[in-house]
Amino acid sequence: MQSMYITTPIYYVTDSPHIGHAYTTVVGDAIVRFYRLAGTDARYLTGTDEHGLKVARAAEEQGVTPQRLVDEVSTRYREAWSLLDVSNDDFIRTTEPRHIAGAQAFLQTLYDNGDVYLDRYEGLYCVSCEDYYKEDDLLEGGLCPIHHRAVEQFSEDNYFFRLSKYGDALLAHIEANPDFVYPRTRRNEVVGFINQGLEDFSISRATLDWGIPIPWDDTQVTYVWVEALMNYATAVGYGQDDELFATWWPAVHLVGKDILRFHAVIWPAMLMAAGVDPPRQVAAHGWLLVGGEKMSKTTLNQIAPSELVDTFGVDGYRYHFLRDVTFGSDGNFSWEGMVDRYNADLANDLGNLANRVLNMVEQYREGTVPALSGNTESDQALRAAAANALTALGGFAGYRFGEALVDIWRLFGAANSYVEDNAPWRLAKNPEEADRLDEVLNALLEALRVGAILISPVMPGAAKRLWDQLGLAGAPDTAPYTETAVFGVFPAIPIARGNPLFPRIDED
Ligand code: MSP
Repeated sequence: MQSMYITTPIYYVTDSPHIGHAYTTVVGDAIVRFYRLAGTDARYLTGTDEHGLKVARAAEEQGVTPQRLVDEVSTRYREAWSLLDVSNDDFIRTTEPRHIAGAQAFLQTLYDNGDVYLDRYEGLYCVSCEDYYKEDDLLEGGLCPIHHRAVEQFSEDNYFFRLSKYGDALLAHIEANPDFVYPRTRRNEVVGFINQGLEDFSISRATLDWGIPIPWDDTQVTYVWVEALMNYATAVGYGQDDELFATWWPAVHLVGKDILRFHAVIWPAMLMAAGVDPPRQVAAHGWLLVGGEKMSKTTLNQIAPSELVDTFGVDGYRYHFLRDVTFGSDGNFSWEGMVDRYNADLANDLGNLANRVLNMVEQYREGTVPALSGNTESDQALRAAAANALTALGGFAGYRFGEALVDIWRLFGAANSYVEDNAPWRLAKNPEEADRLDEVLNALLEALRVGAILISPVMPGAAKRLWDQLGLAGAPDTAPYTETAVFGVFPAIPIARGNPLFPRIDED
């Protein structure tokens, strides 16, 4: 595989970034960093979804222009991702000229290919979802099942997309590409939905002007979901830079389960209609719950990433969500759970290990250990744990972050046992054991070096700090890890012990 193009949903600017949005974004970042570490050319895209009725109304309520609102909130998303060490290569805003031009080219192609027609739209619409509903889908009292708010009756002349034409082609694609929708349960859900029969749907609005004009009829703007989906293509040059587009397309889309249908049914059908390959994969994760409920403005249970970063640091933050939320399932956030995880895995297993080893290297060897390779039985166990951790990291390609991290932590566990088994403080008292002490310290430094490489997709900052403390030049994330994260001989270099990597957090 030569290249990997990974995307997050583009976030609505009606909400400020919270840990639910951050979950998708951090997961994507760990994946893309993993691919880069493996030597694969990878591109990571995120951005903001800025048009539509919901945004227009929010601006009106706040008494500002939509442009002012989107500029302000989009900046907050950028800042949140930079706070979380997200290494996106691009950030797309749907109000940017490049997106508008690309989206119009896309729409024109759909129109020219005969898959768009004018018709009367009559139906129910939830503005919070920016989605259509049928009477049967609603909760009692005509409420949207997701937002528990009243839906609205719409009636206007709109352009429709012939989604109904693509049911068989979609099923054939899903059949031929078993991993197209991940995980399996979501795939079944998509197949079930298609099997119920697909209906054409309205892709324009006659009564709104905060949107992208329909290229052949400027009295209408594009339905926000339709142009939002196109961001994945316009960001890599669709309709404008064919070479760039060919380099990166098709993409892997990471999405929450709530927006699976748009990504695994509507979007691939639109691409087929435009003569473009469907996405490589649509991977859906569950919801992050707080106190058992999905975060939302109405329930006032939204947590901003910065509230947690203040206590746990960026690396503690990223580690927790990757380690403790199983991709595909809902995850419940709790402060206690996060403190326990941090103290056990980061402060104790890894932080103490690093501190102890570096301390002994300073104390017993004035900061530099000769480059020797140990090969007693316990050294072998350490080597095996390192090899196992290296293999485990490959699980990132299959969204198995928690399992991979458990295996990587076995390396730190093995190193902690190795310290106990070899008791360097005892070796240090006996001049005849000088060579053995060198071997032991060298093996421990080596375990930390390999560990720094393997944790770098999840904790890029901590990995680099550990690397620097080990006295190593460069950075831990120079590809490919399958060559660098191999247990070998730690070079004879002076270490540079600094502050503890993960200071313990007081439970109270
Ligand atoms: N703008 C659309 C997406 C358009 S993509 C072409 C949208 N935006 S959103 O901001 O409401 O939500 C986007 C995504 O944020 C969700 O699909 C999901 O990935 C993430 N999450 C929002 N709340 C979440 C949780 N509580 N938990 C996990 N992820 C959540 O839909």
